[in-house]
Amino acid sequence: MGMNLTRKIISSHLAKPSEMKPGDDIFVKVDQTLTHDINAVMTYLAFEAIGLPRARTEISVSNLDHNLLYIDFKTPDDHIYLRTAAEKYGVYVSRPGNGICHTIHTSRFAVPGKLLMGGDSHTPSGGAVGMLAIGVGGMDVATAMTGVPMRLTMPKVVRVNLKGKLRPGVNAKEVILEMLRRESIKGGLGKVYEYVGEGAENLEVPERMTITNMGAEMGATSSIFPADHVVKRYMEAQERGDQFVEMCADPDAEYDEEMELDLSALEPLVALPHQPDNVIPMRELKDRPPVQQVFMGSCTNASYADLAKTALVMQGRHVHENVQCTLGISSRQVYKQLMKDGYLGMLVDAGVRILEIACGPCCAIGQVPPTNGIAVRTSNRNFRGRAGSPNANIYLVSPETAGATAIMGTFATAEEVMGEDVRKLAEIHEPLHYEIDDSLLIKPLPEEEAARVEIIRGPNIAPLPVPEKPEQHVSCRVSLKGTDNISTDDITPAGAEFSSMRSNIPLMSKYCYHRYDPTFAERAKQLGKSIIVGGENYGQGSSREHAAINPMYLGVRCVIAMSIARIHKGNLINHGIVPMLFEGRDDYEKIEQDDLLEIEGFLDQIPTRKVVVKDVTKDFTFNVRLELTDSELAVVLAGGQLRYLKDQLVKEGVIKGS
Ligand code: F3S
Repeated sequence: MGMNLTRKIISSHLAKPSEMKPGDDIFVKVDQTLTHDINAVMTYLAFEAIGLPRARTEISVSNLDHNLLYIDFKTPDDHIYLRTAAEKYGVYVSRPGNGICHTIHTSRFAVPGKLLMGGDSHTPSGGAVGMLAIGVGGMDVATAMTGVPMRLTMPKVVRVNLKGKLRPGVNAKEVILEMLRRESIKGGLGKVYEYVGEGAENLEVPERMTITNMGAEMGATSSIFPADHVVKRYMEAQERGDQFVEMCADPDAEYDEEMELDLSALEPLVALPHQPDNVIPMRELKDRPPVQQVFMGSCTNASYADLAKTALVMQGRHVHENVQCTLGISSRQVYKQLMKDGYLGMLVDAGVRILEIACGPCCAIGQVPPTNGIAVRTSNRNFRGRAGSPNANIYLVSPETAGATAIMGTFATAEEVMGEDVRKLAEIHEPLHYEIDDSLLIKPLPEEEAARVEIIRGPNIAPLPVPEKPEQHVSCRVSLKGTDNISTDDITPAGAEFSSMRSNIPLMSKYCYHRYDPTFAERAKQLGKSIIVGGENYGQGSSREHAAINPMYLGVRCVIAMSIARIHKGNLINHGIVPMLFEGRDDYEKIEQDDLLEIEGFLDQIPTRKVVVKDVTKDFTFNVRLELTDSELAVVLAGGQLRYLKDQLVKEGVIKGS
């Protein structure tokens, strides 16, 4: 039998072992990395602490794209730190205003068949051009930058056979919302979704990107499309045709699972609050309440064609008087093209407020909804608190639906607004040539010049805390009992104010769980050492490793949950918190906040992957398991990735021991 595309790429990057068995630990060589400003300071502090003079990847890019509000000195200081660190270590910088990291990476750096690891959960966007792109925590990016092969759990590969063609007014957003409806927010765990078939050929690269981007919401390792004639056309339009390589699955490729999706059968969909898999058809949204905010854009749905279509929906009409309608365009390239072709003018005429080219409202940096407000967004997450308000209701839709909704002041589809004219949307395509202007990209300096660069550190940038190794006898109270689906937004709040604190863990940790339980940080600090108990899918959502570093800094030693999301589990391991899983829901239900938990002989039990825990307060004993591979166990026992990696690099003679 032939190989699917995912296995082809993994096999060409495989350092060890020689077999690729789903669920096993494998080690792969990483070609490219990306980071963005609100997570990256920790990555570069870690890279500094490792002590290598230069990144050893083919391409690493530091994007300054998320927090451009500069509400005080902290973020501009971070940007100077990131720029000088990039200069020192041979890393590209995408300057503020150039675009959102995933759009920039896919349009200017992604190459079919390469392997990218990015410090952001939506890194799989790059799968749109046939590269394997995986979202990881910041410490993993620092590790990948050393050139050592990276640990990865070999994924299962799911063949998604796409048939048909999207109807006008139906967007690639509908494809991924339908996938979420079928697969759920946990359905993609340990899987790569490989989209193939004649339906895939009917999707342009930015449409494919919407799908691979939001594959993260299913918890998938990644999502990928073939590097076919569609990718070739796109790369030629980006004046990168010379970097195109055809990469497809073999015709008789084997897959671990298969599913089928007919694009022609899709209709406008909406994800209701507060999970992206809470999806229904728009026509079933019977009671259509007034909407206060519409945000169009983000890395998910702000391509040229997305926004040109939205402009047609809104052309000659006006944003409803009760709606605040804003637009965050994904890149300067798209912005200029929309301007040139007159679509930006149509949007402005309709009363849309054009924001900076940045993530912005997607991660609560501006445009927080009003109290109990309804916000309709084209971005990828609708968790409670994601928009910066604990009581707002976020609905996820396509850009066409968002434009129609902004006009009507309540939920509406493009067809409801345009009638028969909706067919005109089918005439809009991505340009055959984009204007190329990389003047906001700073290239890596030559080695000698880079070695002379001084890294500039503002006063808010605090040293990276290094965790303690696990102890033989654990005796800790439960500092927090969480529900199911706690997101990293719950643990580390989004927003301009909080994002600007992320380079200072002592400060940021004061706001750990701030919107979920504002008393947590103080309680955990008082306890000194503690354990967090969580339900299903603990740590879902954004890759932000602060959701592990802040609790670690506050003394959290273990997380015991029903299940833990992939990237967050990796972050816990990297930052010295032991992730453990309940054997049954009964034990989870019995434990309460403040219970005293004890573990005898923890260091002896960890390697067996089974640990006995005593709830001293309730006087019962329960078993937990560690779903960790051998190398993850080694990192846990070493007290986190930084200690582990430095030991490895010293042993290999790459760096000197201290
Ligand atoms: Fe930025 Fe939102 Fe995408 S925060 S990278 S636009 S998911």
